[in-house]
Parts: sequence; C-alpha cells; structure tokens
Amino acid sequence: MNILGIETSCDETAASVLYEGEIHSNVIASQAVHEAFGGVVPELASRAHHKTIWKTVKQSLDEAAVQMEAIDAIAVTQGPGLMGSLLVGLSFAKGLALSYNKPLIGVNHIDAHMYANFIEHDEVYPFVALIVSGGHTRLVYVNKIFNHKLLGDTRDDAAGEAFDKIGKILGLPYPAGPVVDKLAKEGNPAFHDFPRSMIKKGLDFSFSGLKTSVLYYTQEKGDAFVQENLNNICASASAAITDVLAAKLKRAVIKTGVKHVMLAGGVSANSMLRSKINSLSKKMGLHVMIPSIYYCTDNAAMIAKTGELMAREGLYDSLEIKPFARLKSV
Ligand code: KG4
Ligand code: ZN
Repeated sequence: MNILGIETSCDETAASVLYEGEIHSNVIASQAVHEAFGGVVPELASRAHHKTIWKTVKQSLDEAAVQMEAIDAIAVTQGPGLMGSLLVGLSFAKGLALSYNKPLIGVNHIDAHMYANFIEHDEVYPFVALIVSGGHTRLVYVNKIFNHKLLGDTRDDAAGEAFDKIGKILGLPYPAGPVVDKLAKEGNPAFHDFPRSMIKKGLDFSFSGLKTSVLYYTQEKGDAFVQENLNNICASASAAITDVLAAKLKRAVIKTGVKHVMLAGGVSANSMLRSKINSLSKKMGLHVMIPSIYYCTDNAAMIAKTGELMAREGLYDSLEIKPFARLKSV
C-alpha cells in the first residue's frame, strides 16, 4: 500500500508519503504567523494552509520520488481540529482523489497520534495509550485495531495546554511546551511543591488548578525571583504534570492488566515524561512504545500510517465526508 497523508488540523501544514510500508517523506510547514498572538488564530491558520498546501504535498511527493499515479489512497485528517483548517486539507484531498481517481480515507487525528507508534514499533494488542496533546489528555484501552475504550479524560485543561499556559505565565513564547521542557532540564523538580491534582483518584485528569497555583506563586514571588529561578519553576511545574500522568497510566495498567503501553501526542516529546514512563515500564515489566520526537507533534506521517491501517481494514470513505471539529467518541 502506498499512501499520501495530509494533515491540516491546527497550525502545521503537513504531507507525507508512505511507500511500501515505509515513510519516505514527512514534510511539515509550520506557521510562524501565530507567534505574535501568543496562540493559534484560526482565520490566519486556514489562510496559511491554503497558501502552503500544494507546495507541501508536492514537496512530500518529490522527496519520496513518488508520483501521484503510484499512490493507492489519500489519507487526510477529518478531525478533530479547527474547522477552517480541516476544511482546507479535506477539500484539497478530495480534489486530488477526484482528479487522480484515488480512494479517500478520513483519519481521526487523535487515533493517528496513537497509531504513529506503529511506524517504528510492531503492532501489538491490547495496549493502553496515554494521549497527551495540546487539546486532549486521555487514557485509552485498545483491545484490537480501531476498537477503543476511553478510560479517562481531562476535566478541564489538556496537558499540552497546561504546559503552554504555565509557559505564558512565565513569559515564554508560544507554544511554550518545548521551551518549558528545555529550561526544566537545568532545574530542580523539587524546588517547589506544586499540586498534583487528582493523583490518587480515578483515571480522569485536571490541570487548571496547577496553572492557577503557578500564577499565584509567581505573583507572590515577583518578577526578579521568577527570572532568577526560571529553570527551577519549569522543572517543578513539569514534575507536577508528569507525576500525575505517570500515576494515572500506572493505575490504568493495573486496572486493565495490559502488558503494552504507549505514549502519543505532542507532550510525549517531553523529556521528563518520557523518562518517567520508561522507568515506570521497567519497574512494572511493561513493553513501552514512545514515538521518535518528530512523530510526537503534529505530522502527516501519522496520518499516512493510520490511513494504511484503515485501508488494510477496508475503512475507505466517500467524497461526501465532512470535517468534524470535536471528538465524537474514541
Ligand atoms: O499533538 P500536538 O502537536 O497538537 C495537538 O494535536 O494538540 O501537541 C501540541 C502540544 C502543545 O501544547 C505543545 O506545547 C506540546 O504539545 N509540546 C510539549 C513538548 N513538545 C510539544 N509539551 C511539553 N514538552 C515538550 N517537549
Ligand atoms: Zn495533534
């Protein structure tokens, strides 16, 4: 199966070619236009996708040295995401499918974050996935392919949102997650004891209290103190987030009895989280799957990979499919 994957759910225009089971190109055009606004501006995002999509798709085909004729199906993100951004990718994919007479596959972006793991790891079931992105924080039990059961969800902010909002409070540029990660590496995680919300209770998450706690702490201590201790504050806040994530994953493993676990989504690029999940897995004798950094954050290789799996299962779509902004179910 040769798949062209297209991803435009948020602020990355991305295209990838999966050729004979391998990723041959993974092109990502990031939109710098949002930096000045401290967050993604939906209208600007869809305009930028519109401008870049053809160039990005062409580049992915060129880098893979594959022509459209050799492609068996076009996989495109159908949702969740920003409606205007999704529409650009989906309309483009439909046009391409129609003109080259190729089947279309609408991919769920959150599923794709999970199945990105199977680019580099053998397919194994059942597993528990900890999905941590800018918009979602969920624990999902996957019994067999595309058979998902939601075990836990966030009640307020997603983990990536928590990193971004805490970074914003600390005056860091958007998206702050990777910057907080970098600063935290030189800091002391035990410098300040930020709250670990709901750590002892169930499988749901809540991160908005932590954000408020960081806000009050920085207001009380003042700018000079914050600047002087930026590394320590980043490390302490990261420790609070990642302790909760690791504790909940552990509880989900005990509850389901799985032997395989995976990390998925942008926050799985976080070094503290990766190391905590690796040591948890070692202690519990689990097989752990964590994507390489470039498959953690939004990319189209994960869309191509999920498209390949959907094609294998006969899950093709018609040209009538519509984008969806929010998750319907897992
Ligand atoms: O999966 P993703 O690329 O997009 C969504 O589907 O939301 O996730 C983006 C999120 C952002 O909140 C970003 O700050 C966070 O992932 N992120 C990180 C790191 N890299 C990306 N958070 C913490 N540490 C990182 N290294
Ligand atoms: Zn994503």
